[in-house]
Amino acid sequence: MRLFTGLALGFAALALPVKAADMVKFEISGGDTPVIEKSLTGKPGDAAAGRKVVINRKKGNCMACHKVTALKDVPYHGDVAPTLDGVADRYEPGQLRMMIVDQKKYFPDTIMPAMYRIEGLHRVQKKWQGKTILTAQEVEDVLAFLLTLKEG
Ligand code: HEC
Repeated sequence: MRLFTGLALGFAALALPVKAADMVKFEISGGDTPVIEKSLTGKPGDAAAGRKVVINRKKGNCMACHKVTALKDVPYHGDVAPTLDGVADRYEPGQLRMMIVDQKKYFPDTIMPAMYRIEGLHRVQKKWQGKTILTAQEVEDVLAFLLTLKEG
């Protein structure tokens, strides 16, 4: 657990600041299966830009924990989380958007950092409090990339 806490702090420390006042308002629906149906930006994301965010260690840093076969050129793939291969077959887009924004809505004890959340976080370094890891645009771009990960 200690290692994971360190990782989480690392993300918070490297985050680009998006302050509370700049945050987009969004609606969570779906009850037991929480979803964010609407794009945070009102537009679809860009998968190529999302790919860059996914592998950027100073952004989502998804590869610290996840494996993605499609990203063959990325040297390090993590193994503490499920592979993202075929993730678009397993979840609806609104579910995936919710998972990027705040994975705790699905897995309350997850080590995966909430990428677009400010309230109710723990152990965030003081200078990074009140800031999100990704921008709304980056959430949509990452989602667009995840939607390319189909197997079936
Ligand atoms: C610190 C590790 C960590 C990082 C970083 C991380 N995740 Fe995760 N993620 C997890 C874990 C662990 C799970 C499995 C849920 C659980 O049990 O916590 C998960 C689950 C998921 C799932 C659901 C997978 C499935 O098949 O059920 C998606 C989608 C996902 N993550 C996307 C991302 C994306 C996109 C990023 C980067 C923006 C990211 N994750 C960054 C740890 C991480």
